[in-house]
Amino acid sequence: MAFQSHNLLLSFIIISFVACSLQEDPLDDMYVGNSPSNVDDGGTSKSLIIKQRPTNNILRLNRFVMLDATSSSSSATKLNVNDYGAKGDGKTDDTQAFKKAWKEACSSGGAVILAVPQNNYLLKPITFSGPCKSQITMQIGGSIEASEDRSEYSEDTQHWVMFESVEKLTVEGGGTINGNGNTWWKNSCKKNPKLVCIDPNQAVTFYKCKNLIVENLTIKNGQQINVNIEESMDVKVSGVTVKAPGDSPNTDGIHITNTKNIKILKTLIATGDDCISIESGTQNLQVSDLTCGPGHGISIGSLGDTGSKESVSGITVNGAKLSGTTKTWQMLCMQGGSGSASNIKFQNIEMDNVANPIIIDQNYCDQKNPCKQKDSGIEIKNVLYENIKGTSASEVGVSLNCSESVPCEGIVLQNVKLQREGDGEASKASCQSVKLSYQGHVSPRCP
Ligand SMILES: *[C@@H]1O[C@H](CO)[C@@H](O)[C@H](O)[C@H]1NC(C)=O
Ligand SMILES: *[C@@H]1O[C@H](CO)[C@@H](O)[C@H](O)[C@H]1NC(C)=O
Repeated sequence: MAFQSHNLLLSFIIISFVACSLQEDPLDDMYVGNSPSNVDDGGTSKSLIIKQRPTNNILRLNRFVMLDATSSSSSATKLNVNDYGAKGDGKTDDTQAFKKAWKEACSSGGAVILAVPQNNYLLKPITFSGPCKSQITMQIGGSIEASEDRSEYSEDTQHWVMFESVEKLTVEGGGTINGNGNTWWKNSCKKNPKLVCIDPNQAVTFYKCKNLIVENLTIKNGQQINVNIEESMDVKVSGVTVKAPGDSPNTDGIHITNTKNIKILKTLIATGDDCISIESGTQNLQVSDLTCGPGHGISIGSLGDTGSKESVSGITVNGAKLSGTTKTWQMLCMQGGSGSASNIKFQNIEMDNVANPIIIDQNYCDQKNPCKQKDSGIEIKNVLYENIKGTSASEVGVSLNCSESVPCEGIVLQNVKLQREGDGEASKASCQSVKLSYQGHVSPRCP
């Protein structure tokens, strides 16, 4: 996890919860007719859709219709960063040109396509802010590149490209956003313990965005976190590739905090840290058709690190392949705080040589940063792991280590088969303070 310092503890590589099939999912509406839904909504959602999509859903649909129409017709205003002075030669600083182009795109009204053609554009830290009068589609065909000079981040070491308070934004185009993170990785406290740890830089941040679509893009070599989605709502990430070397520190693929209603579909993530890290305030997240590895898998937590009530709920990962995590799963420690992680489903996951394929750890404390409190008030309940198959790089394939004070409840293992990589023997399970049930064939089981 990127926020290592002393946080919570709930890390799951792959989990599944039970969820919220009865709950309203505004995204279903949002993407009606437009997204092949691999996510099983339990068959209940159709009737709910009809009942539950009142006005704002209709608006969302309108918006899609409009975007579809505009991207192929001439009714959208078309802007091109080159017309605002961008050189795209990979050497010239194009930051000012992008700012000017964004200002125009944001203020012109109606549907706007902001084109970033097939060149290499060098950008310093930049914020594309809203609110905007227009519905902007940023079409990145070429490459947006970060400078490797860390001194350029003196004002704000945490952000490179940020979209802030923008509604109805689409970022697409088949191009690449490249954080060129090499100098950051070399100067990481993870690589060199003598260096001071800083809060992670986020290559691409979506902050307070609403009705956001990120699709058909490659984001790579993030300074640290590759994509950060924070305090946003109604988000779809689809057809995105996120890549960084397996040994690059803190390079989470997609990091989600305080965001509601998000779908991550058809995504390939191979980085040095979590593929997807889910932090407090995340509600109603559906992940499907995910390929993850190398990397540390999917994590939920840190919760409780601010000592306040924090929760994560309604997480479904249905359809994922995880392979070759090179390191043991990172577990974080939990501190005071209260809240819960609930209604989580991990379904149809293939594991190939994954260390700690299924893990819940409420007890772990990082030795270097001892937890202030041993017991957390964080509840973990209603987690389903269904149809999880493959090989574990660690002897223990299933580790459910909950706290005595707040046992984990409603944990279900259904059709789980995890063998040890290499010898094909059954892996082991280690369980503590967990209310667990089994369905179908489950191996390993708790002793
Ligand atoms: C991605 O964008 C490129 C450029 O617009 C386009 O040619 C390609 O078809 C798109 N791919 C997908 C899967 O949408
Ligand atoms: C579970 O947590 C306890 C308390 O921190 C620890 O002593 C134990 O080693 C953990 N068990 C596993 C299997 O990780």
